[in-house]
Amino acid sequence: MFSFFKSKSSSNRLQDFLSQSIQVDIHSHLLPGIDDGAPDLETSLSLINELAGLGFKKLITTPHIRMEVFPNTPAIIKEQLLEVQTALRTTSASVQLDAAAEYYIDDNFTALLQHNDLIPYTGNKYILVEYPMIAPLMNYEQRIFDLTQRGLTPVIAHPERYRYWHGQLNYYERIKDLGGLLQLNILSVEGYYGLDIKKCALELLKTGLYDLIGTDLHNERHLGRLKNLGTMSKEMKLLEAYNFNNAKRFL
Ligand SMILES: [Fe+2]
Repeated sequence: MFSFFKSKSSSNRLQDFLSQSIQVDIHSHLLPGIDDGAPDLETSLSLINELAGLGFKKLITTPHIRMEVFPNTPAIIKEQLLEVQTALRTTSASVQLDAAAEYYIDDNFTALLQHNDLIPYTGNKYILVEYPMIAPLMNYEQRIFDLTQRGLTPVIAHPERYRYWHGQLNYYERIKDLGGLLQLNILSVEGYYGLDIKKCALELLKTGLYDLIGTDLHNERHLGRLKNLGTMSKEMKLLEAYNFNNAKRFL
């Protein structure tokens, strides 16, 4: 009996946080078969339903665009979005679904930017970008400048996952000074990506450098770890006390 009430209260805690403070998930991989996220429509609908059940009012899903691995285009993403939106209407899920993309910053991205062939978030104000995981990108500052020059605010995905910047807050501060926004992966706080990444995420939370939060949800395993976060009292308290801008900027 006790464990029933315990698990009920942790899921309520996560649900309250997501439905009241966050409302919009701005980073996930929910469109079927076009990246390393949902492999088919059935999984896609199941993950969307679960996220809606956790309290999100709006999901802006962001398939990878990385030419040599996931050669997606705005047309492919829009076509898949329409298919899922249509199927979603036949279910009982009450959640708004939209799509943008998560761009890997490389030379191909520069070419797409030059040809204005991008799919930013609706409203063309923000664009989600990721840096390499292994080694720092040359000219990372210039890439931010190129985007802001075009009126796009870069949202840097999961900065805590770039180990080459760990312990060097000045890199994160520099991104903010140049006009970029920092997006925390919620599972970093749960410890899913490792303790060093969790440590960096907690540090960035304490310094107030994050602007946004996202699930970066790819699969059921991520969903399970997200639900587990609801049972982690200390971590939830930190998140609940933080002022994320998701609803203000994206609802
Ligand atoms: Fe992602």
